[in-house]
Amino acid sequence: MQHSALINVMVKAALRAGRSLKRDLGEIEHLQVSLKGPANFVSLADKRAEEMLYTDLSKARPGYGFLGEEGGTREGTDKTHTWIVDPLDGTTNFLHGIPQFAISIGLKRDETIIAGVVYNPANDELYIAERGKGAFLNDQRLRVAGRRNLNECVIGCGLPHIGRGDHALFRAEMEAIQNKVAGLRRFGAAALDLAFVAAGRLDGFWERDLSPWDIAAGQILIREAGGTISGIDGHDNAVTTGHVVCGNEYVHGELLKILKAAAK
Ligand code: IPD
Ligand code: CA
Ligand code: CA
Repeated sequence: MQHSALINVMVKAALRAGRSLKRDLGEIEHLQVSLKGPANFVSLADKRAEEMLYTDLSKARPGYGFLGEEGGTREGTDKTHTWIVDPLDGTTNFLHGIPQFAISIGLKRDETIIAGVVYNPANDELYIAERGKGAFLNDQRLRVAGRRNLNECVIGCGLPHIGRGDHALFRAEMEAIQNKVAGLRRFGAAALDLAFVAAGRLDGFWERDLSPWDIAAGQILIREAGGTISGIDGHDNAVTTGHVVCGNEYVHGELLKILKAAAK
């Protein structure tokens, strides 16, 4: 499958950083049993992966800005383009040796996300999307699921943990949704959750209080797979607000209505 030069740059960077994370995952399996535990090691793994991504992406596209979870904003001379990068999404899974984590790279031009790559090095699943050119999983074209009965749908979510988010609001939303769907899932890596919606594995997904690097790449994957994604207020602001809801057009609309009613 032939992709653009831009996608090749993103994929190459993701694969190199992915090899590093995969080696580190092997180490974690050893550290898991030690008293000290792997927490410090993981935060190093995270930073190392981000530096690799920064090096490769800025070498290939000098001047682009870079927003990474670990290093924050690094201004570029080209004010129109910004990489939005999570070097390790699903840290808690990674820390526990659960193979559901990913590198997420989005590219923003002006205010629009124009390309995205999400890569899970544990199972070698590589998701790619570029504006107007479709979304792919390991070269297979993606399409969101077509279900129109919520009671047949499996919906993903993210749940707030200790010290984060509005727990009561989440419980109200979850209660409202769990009464209407075939299943709820919490996989723990938002970029992959969004990729799963693009791949039709999940019929929909919602989560609050995410960051731009959790959503940027997944947003274009979903759009290029024919799905709908927005902020929880229904506007096109998921990346900036961190609140996201998505699915096919129908599921997205239904989830939005339920979330709106639950927030009252
Ligand atoms: C987290 C994951 C998780 C979501 C959290 C995110 P991190 O990212 O995407 O699924 O529920 O809110 O912060 O910290 O593992 O990069
Ligand atoms: Ca993340
Ligand atoms: Ca992260």
